[in-house]
Amino acid sequence: MDKPKVVLGVSGGIAAYKACELLRRLTESGHDVRVVPTASALHFVGAATWSALSGHPVSTEVWDDVHEVPHVRIGQGADLVVVAPATADMLAKAAHGLADDLLTNTLLTARCPVVFAPAMHTEMWEHPATQENVATLRRRGAVVIEPAVGRLTGVDTGKGRLPDPAEIFEVCRRVLARGVTEPDLKGRHVVVSAGGTREPLDPVRFLGNRSSGKQGYALARTAAARGARVTLIAANTGLPDPAGVDVVPVGTAVQLREAVLKAAADADAVVMAAAVADFRPAEYAAGKIKKKDDKDPDPIVLLRNPDILAEISADRARPGQVVVGFAAETDDVLANGRKKLARKGCDLLVVNEVGERKTFGSEENEAVVLGADGSETAVPHGPKEALADTVWDLVAHRLA
Ligand code: CTP
Repeated sequence: MDKPKVVLGVSGGIAAYKACELLRRLTESGHDVRVVPTASALHFVGAATWSALSGHPVSTEVWDDVHEVPHVRIGQGADLVVVAPATADMLAKAAHGLADDLLTNTLLTARCPVVFAPAMHTEMWEHPATQENVATLRRRGAVVIEPAVGRLTGVDTGKGRLPDPAEIFEVCRRVLARGVTEPDLKGRHVVVSAGGTREPLDPVRFLGNRSSGKQGYALARTAAARGARVTLIAANTGLPDPAGVDVVPVGTAVQLREAVLKAAADADAVVMAAAVADFRPAEYAAGKIKKKDDKDPDPIVLLRNPDILAEISADRARPGQVVVGFAAETDDVLANGRKKLARKGCDLLVVNEVGERKTFGSEENEAVVLGADGSETAVPHGPKEALADTVWDLVAHRLA
């Protein structure tokens, strides 16, 4: 089979050096990558680097190899175009259809999915001109990844950083896998909770669980690749932030509830993938609890935590909001799942069987998605992204 053809557009920002790693990841995972830098990008990383890493010639203008009509052919032949970093100037040109170099021509001739990963100073990102250009590109079907927050060039920090190349690569992989030019979650805001809550006993101890957060992160990543604005409420995961996703770190069930309710206020869908502790210690010891010689330990008194899934299901923040829960069961998986779906009042419940070596921390999953309408969708053993995509298929269907 032919390798998927990817065009990596690089525009002139300091983050251009990070595109070298994105290029490596793409080529090493079996993609045929043609790099099309702008003339400004070559101030940051030279043509020799792009050419050596991609194994293809590199030019910025339409006047090289004119007999091959590169300004049309490169875009026409692509399965994916990703522009990383995309400067404010590049977004403006793309939004307005300007075509004064090879990359902008390529963007006009491509009929495949297009991903932009903007990087610039916060002021430039927040400027109404840039925001309108981004909105235009998204409306037309491009996936524009929200920049990350953090250190920018010089002493500045704020929103505008290029996300981690490994995470941009994940978005590209997902977009390529779907191959659609009309992302079905565009304009939607989705909230995903992930990880496991920790209920502190004292400054060094907590009651917790074995949830890794990987399924929730897969949900966030796939939603972003399908064009959604994503808020990820992350409980104790230690995983890298997915590209384009707004990550809100939390610790306890009470903090998770607060963060979910706040984010859910304008959400089209809420997916509760987090393993929330049902109970928390009634008392928190401000100092470390010490063992007392020859004495049995004091019992730990527990209080019930709020059931967040039941609460958001019963009291929808907006009409038509789709609520999805997860259930990890060890026995009578489907029967227990049906009962739980009814008890929680959500629209969909992803039921999976757990055990010592099943699901927790692994890269794969297997589940049945139960619908409040009686539907049952089996998802065979496979990557957590595949289960995530099935969940979003079912959510998108309900939103439509
Ligand atoms: N959940 C929640 N708030 C809680 C506990 C759970 O929102 N306090 C959500 C989880 O995020 C998950 C779903 O509810 O989506 C299933 O949680 P689970 O603990 O399995 O359900 P329970 O009703 O507690 O049932 P069980 O008796 O099996 O523990």
